[in-house]
Amino acid sequence: MSLLTADRINTFYGDSHILFDVSVEVHEKEVVALLGRNGAGKSTLLKTLAGALRPKSGTIELNGAPIHQKEAHEIARMGLQLVPEERRVIGGITVHENLQLAAMTAKDPLDYSEIYRTFPRLDERRTNKGRELSGGEQQMVAIARAMIRDAKLILLDEPFEGLAPLIVRDLMAVCQDLAAQGRTIVVVEQNVAAALSMAGRCYLLNTGHIVFSGTSEELQERPEIMNRYLGAAA
Ligand SMILES: Nc1ncnc2c1ncn2[C@@H]1O[C@H](COP(=O)(O)OP(=O)(O)OP(=O)(O)O)[C@@H](O)[C@H]1O
Ligand SMILES: [Mg+2]
Repeated sequence: MSLLTADRINTFYGDSHILFDVSVEVHEKEVVALLGRNGAGKSTLLKTLAGALRPKSGTIELNGAPIHQKEAHEIARMGLQLVPEERRVIGGITVHENLQLAAMTAKDPLDYSEIYRTFPRLDERRTNKGRELSGGEQQMVAIARAMIRDAKLILLDEPFEGLAPLIVRDLMAVCQDLAAQGRTIVVVEQNVAAALSMAGRCYLLNTGHIVFSGTSEELQERPEIMNRYLGAAA
């Protein structure tokens, strides 16, 4: 069943037209990758889906309900959570307090024990301040905040950027667990191999246009598309 449907979205920054008639569909429990070169419009698309930017035209539905006119906080309460690139973990409070803060504004927060089961590392670091965490641990907190708010759809913007390969492997496993538990993930990632290995389907953006959509296998069988639109990244 379709969880999110964006239909012919056009997004601008002022007079700059960034997304051109972008349509994407995300089904329940899948991991979808959103790929494209620097500046292709990937973050703009995630922000538009999450209500941080309002599209000039087009529609977005979450579980059949239109959300493109709603505020970001309303969309978050409806179960869609954006984990932005900059993570925004609060440095002066502990890991647990970061989670409590996220839970406070949630409709139906998850039990903390579920979070700590998913991220044993955060359980160990519960009383550490945000600023004492490694980049990988901060990313775990950022994802855990979306989880505690019981997000059905989690949008991850470059979650693996700057992280060590072992941490990336752990986080990829967590993402796949989340999908297996019934959550749905859209991931933007420069690491194309990592993105394609976790995602069943993918969309490829180029200068604000969707230029490919299909399964990850289908994309891997099209080296000319990979080279043309992902270049060195592929
Ligand atoms: N706040 C802004 N104001 C004006 N233009 C912006 C703004 N943010 C992004 N842009 C422009 O919009 C286009 C798409 O940017 P976006 O950040 O969505 O790309 P991206 O695919 O996420 O790139 P990256 O891989 O570098 O993160 C780029 O041309 C960028 O310069
Ligand atoms: Mg980006």
